[in-house]
Amino acid sequence: MAQATIGIIGGSGLYEMEALGDRQEVRIDTPFGAPSDAIVLGTLDGTRVAFLARHGRDHTLLPSELPFRANIYAMKQLGVKYLISASAVGSLKETVKPLDMVVVDQFIDRTRSRPSTFFGDGIVAHISFADPVCTALARILANAVESLNLPEVELHRGGTYVCMEGPAFSTRAESHLYRSWGASVIGMTNLPEAKLAREAEIAYATLALVTDYDCWHLEHDSVSVEMVIANLKANAINAQKVIRETVRRLSENPPESEAHEALKYAILTPLD
Ligand code: ADE
Repeated sequence: MAQATIGIIGGSGLYEMEALGDRQEVRIDTPFGAPSDAIVLGTLDGTRVAFLARHGRDHTLLPSELPFRANIYAMKQLGVKYLISASAVGSLKETVKPLDMVVVDQFIDRTRSRPSTFFGDGIVAHISFADPVCTALARILANAVESLNLPEVELHRGGTYVCMEGPAFSTRAESHLYRSWGASVIGMTNLPEAKLAREAEIAYATLALVTDYDCWHLEHDSVSVEMVIANLKANAINAQKVIRETVRRLSENPPESEAHEALKYAILTPLD
């Protein structure tokens, strides 16, 4: 099977990487079913990458319907060691404005019923997840953003991402609650992905692309799909630049990651 060390998962608005050369589409079957869509393998400035549109290229999958396990399993099968996730989010802080980018370093789980482990069925494992994002990959991602000096984009290094179930956006009371927790952004997809990537010993980092102020801000309209899409168009152009620069830096200097040894002491069931 074709291989790539770097994987990219594009969220709402980021359904393809325009700069990708030598494209090859692969449909991978996994024990957890098919991934969200075909994975597009190709080269970005000479480096092989694997790109997957999280919700499918025609955006047909709700956050709760995403085959998270199949997506991560497929990336692992392709040999992915570093996974960059680009995701639309709402802001929970005044200082985090639409079009800003947040390289998050924490998550809060508000999902309800998503399969987010490869373990069970006789094999018990508990990965460490205190630091759910790969520090080294997050640093490279943030440095890439900074180096590009994108107009009107402020970079926030670190921040907590609330992962909600959706698909409806939050109530105002929920939005205020998450703000009181000190969280920076809210989205619907990244936590199960980060957990499964860690279980698969893949380094994972999120580029959170801010589209709205959710529904807590007195001077801004409450979030709507129309608002999200309008800002996503600008965000998607910027995100592709950031991902390209991140891939360039990663391929020049692939870092060690704690994620690559995540299972070393995690499995309790004797396997032999
Ligand atoms: N994605 C983009 N904006 C969002 C919001 N306000 N809440 C949840 N997910 C989002």
